Amino acid sequence: MAFEDKIKQLLDLRQTARLGGGEKGIEKQHSKGKLTARERIDLLLDEGSFEEFDMFVTHRCTNFGMEKKQILSDGVVTGYGTIDGRLVYVFSQDFTSYGGSLSETFAKKICKIMDQAMKVGAPVIGLNDSGGARIQEGVNSLAGYAEIFERNILASGVVPQISAIFGPCAGGAVYSPALTDFILMSKENSYMFVTGPKVVKTVTGEDVTEANLGGAMVHASKSGVAHFVSETEQEGIEMIRKLVSYIPSNNLEEAPIVNCTDPIDRLEDSLNSIMPDDPNKPYDVKDVIRAITDEGDFFEVHEKYAPNIVVGFARFNGVSVGIVANQPKFMAGVLDVNSSRKGARFVRFCDAFNIPIITLVDVPGFLCGTGQEYNGIITNGAKLLFAYGEATVPKITVTLRKSYGGAHDVMSSKQLRGDINYAWPTAQVAVMGASGATAILYGSDLKKMENPEEKAKFLQEKEQEYNDKFANPYDAAKYGYIDDVIEPRNTRFRIIRALQALATKKDSNPMKKHDNIPL
Ligand code: HXC
Repeated sequence: MAFEDKIKQLLDLRQTARLGGGEKGIEKQHSKGKLTARERIDLLLDEGSFEEFDMFVTHRCTNFGMEKKQILSDGVVTGYGTIDGRLVYVFSQDFTSYGGSLSETFAKKICKIMDQAMKVGAPVIGLNDSGGARIQEGVNSLAGYAEIFERNILASGVVPQISAIFGPCAGGAVYSPALTDFILMSKENSYMFVTGPKVVKTVTGEDVTEANLGGAMVHASKSGVAHFVSETEQEGIEMIRKLVSYIPSNNLEEAPIVNCTDPIDRLEDSLNSIMPDDPNKPYDVKDVIRAITDEGDFFEVHEKYAPNIVVGFARFNGVSVGIVANQPKFMAGVLDVNSSRKGARFVRFCDAFNIPIITLVDVPGFLCGTGQEYNGIITNGAKLLFAYGEATVPKITVTLRKSYGGAHDVMSSKQLRGDINYAWPTAQVAVMGASGATAILYGSDLKKMENPEEKAKFLQEKEQEYNDKFANPYDAAKYGYIDDVIEPRNTRFRIIRALQALATKKDSNPMKKHDNIPL
């Protein structure tokens, strides 16, 4: 073959590979309102930055006449490129080729980029749209999944792993995204479940739609499997680009520092009046967050799940931080099973990737009752406690209002190696609220009182006495558990100064194989 013909052959092969399962498949994909695997990569990466691997890979299956059905790339597009100039590795499952189903060679392609991402210390982003195990390949497909799972596990805490679900993700295939740090689902067309509606009907008798079983909203609000939901694939890809901007490329680096135009000493007067006089009245802690971060930016994680705790990324003077805040607007900001799990996972991500944690506390305690106890509030609450206690990144705590009981200890208290613990003048650090405390302290006195008016007066006096002693930050400050009581409007500046002071912080945990966090 002449040299020119060889070049032409290469270009033709490339052109064929780029069409994946072919033009009809692409049309079908578009008709469902979905982008193709390559279109998604084009949107995700900086223009022209994509370098593809294994375009010419084909499967080696000979079952069911598969040797006659060969599609270049074998159903997944893999390679590397950049997001805002930073290296990332990516795989994008191509539904137009064998329904994006996973074969032995498909898995090998994904493993190749994961191995290289680990060597160079770059995030792995997986765009999922697949019918699951390629049925014709039998156990080779299952083995391929397990190869990927093992790499997901070994990469955990070393390089960030992000999954987007833009189509089906069913059966054991769900476990690769589940092992990654973040899952984003697009509202249309995406679903995740271990078994689909038809099998569910035969096993449990339940009638359920795909969306109700494993759609984006279900996983974002009920199961907590999905950290983010997007209206469209395009919006989802934009969200992934934004997420990447807050996090470092690996566990040995720090997140990129961006230029900050928001004055670091900006006083936020609105915070001096944000707290209602009645300590049981709610307010929106996101108003506090947006008032103190650079340009009011806050990239919320798990927004729709367990809204009684708020977690997400923001920046102070250009430095990326993770924010964890009790949300008085929902269930008074109480810690329950779901919010504890949500908070713990986020704190552990930040700690694994050197992102300082800012904790805003307004917590009345742990939620009680059979519903919580039967679901393991003890074990689940311990997760958050464990996560904070083991975290060695800079930890800055600002107690806004209530900080009661065990929840006080949990929320990045001084004794859990909180580095700088501030409180607003409205803070109340105590074992419990006044009414509960007086009912216990004076139970026998109250029993003896028959006159309801006398009882009410007695209770009022005792509650007042209790509040005078504990409904303030000064009792905790007296013991050094609070480092300083600060003016709310000055919170931004104080946090920035604290971050500057802690920038060179070094702390460590005892050597061990791994911990045994209460799972
Ligand atoms: C091989 C598959 C496939 C699969 C789809 N295709 N899934 N080929 N293995 N798992 C092929 C179809 O044959 C079809 O090929 C093309 O992909 C498009 O599929 P359609 O069915 O036409 O598309 P659609 O109507 O949109 O339905 C999509 C779907 C459906 C809901 C995903 O294809 C489906 O139910 N597939 C099987 C899902 C499944 O049960 N997978 C196994 C899960 S268990 P042609 O040639 O006609 O275009 C599992 C175990 C993993 O994954 C274990 C890990 C430990």
